[in-house]
Amino acid sequence: MATGPDSDDDKRLKFGNRLLTDPQNVFQHNAWDNVVWDEEQEAAAKKITEKQLECLAQPEKKEEYESKADEFWNTFYSQHQNRFFKDRHWLFTEFPELYGRKDCDDNNDSNDSLCKPQDGENTSGSNTTVSSPQQSSGELDESCLSTAVDKKCSLVDGATAPCDDYPVNFLEVGCGVGNTVFPLLNTNKNPNLMVYCCDFSSTAIQILKEHPDHDQKRCCAFVLDITEENPEVPFPTESLDIIIMIFVLSAVCPEKMQAAVNRLASYLKPGGTILFRDYGRYDMAQLRFKQGRCLSENFYVRGDGTRVYFFTQGELRNMFLKAGLLEKENLVDRRLQVNRGRQLKMYRVWIQCKYIKPVNPVS
Ligand SMILES: C[S@@+](CC[C@H](N)C(=O)[O-])C[C@H]1O[C@@H](n2cnc3c(N)ncnc32)[C@H](O)[C@@H]1O
Repeated sequence: MATGPDSDDDKRLKFGNRLLTDPQNVFQHNAWDNVVWDEEQEAAAKKITEKQLECLAQPEKKEEYESKADEFWNTFYSQHQNRFFKDRHWLFTEFPELYGRKDCDDNNDSNDSLCKPQDGENTSGSNTTVSSPQQSSGELDESCLSTAVDKKCSLVDGATAPCDDYPVNFLEVGCGVGNTVFPLLNTNKNPNLMVYCCDFSSTAIQILKEHPDHDQKRCCAFVLDITEENPEVPFPTESLDIIIMIFVLSAVCPEKMQAAVNRLASYLKPGGTILFRDYGRYDMAQLRFKQGRCLSENFYVRGDGTRVYFFTQGELRNMFLKAGLLEKENLVDRRLQVNRGRQLKMYRVWIQCKYIKPVNPVS
């Protein structure tokens, strides 16, 4: 794999804080947030992807990449072990839902941040969009709160979550070797937190289970292909508070994404949330793919046989809404990373979303 999925993993402020106002200063920092792409840059990126489509990967190899997808990832983890992805500490900044409590107040009824995205709400500056999830069913309001979150706590950034000792069930899909799971177990001190985590790479799950912080009382790791039609899972339907999807849906073949998202949504409690971050359209990693690596529009295979898709906000919105969820957040994070030594500019595009299962299903 040429680059890590999100190489800016270090602890950092919520994105959107460092803005490049004077292009002359571009090499003064390693990264700039909310970089605005002009039409010319967008058109140039589109042209590159059109060119990539002219020379597709061999069709017979395409089937192999699908049927042996888990094996390619097994080989990846056999080679890299737990050295490739860094621990994702930034997750707690972007997804304070994962923290657990800062303080707890049973009388706290300020559930706005969980259920009422405000029009034009913008956590990270001009280039980030939070669209209103208004649908035919009406506004997202208190009714989307789960009974499980009746007892709420104030969290960092004003989000809400169950109290410290309230039983909560999280699931991370495509957890790899645990770069999210272990920071999560170490940060969220709720003794009744159960973190389920799965990956279709048995090698990754084995490595995760051998980690010194793996604690069977709070963590249940298992092998699962999220594209499988009737998978066995170690929890009941509608039992999860949070599902975490970090750079995993992009690894799934586009034809199977919707069914996978529908299935994951069925695991959520009413009021439960999917937290999502993945590659956005025209990310540097997409534009770097050479001829013969493109499998279909915006879907590519890397040299090691692992695959990656590059999403638009609209595609993700459609998929999650079709799965019956409501939109709390759908942001595009456009970052300009800079290699000061080599005077290189790298335009990164990531998409970050939060979707909630309504208590009353959307009709
Ligand atoms: C880019 S890695 C991200 C790993 C981890 N989420 C992280 O951010 O460090 C993608 C992960 O998704 C897993 N994966 C890909 N397709 C999957 C599928 N159909 N079912 C379950 N896991 C899958 C891969 O094995 C790999 O661990």
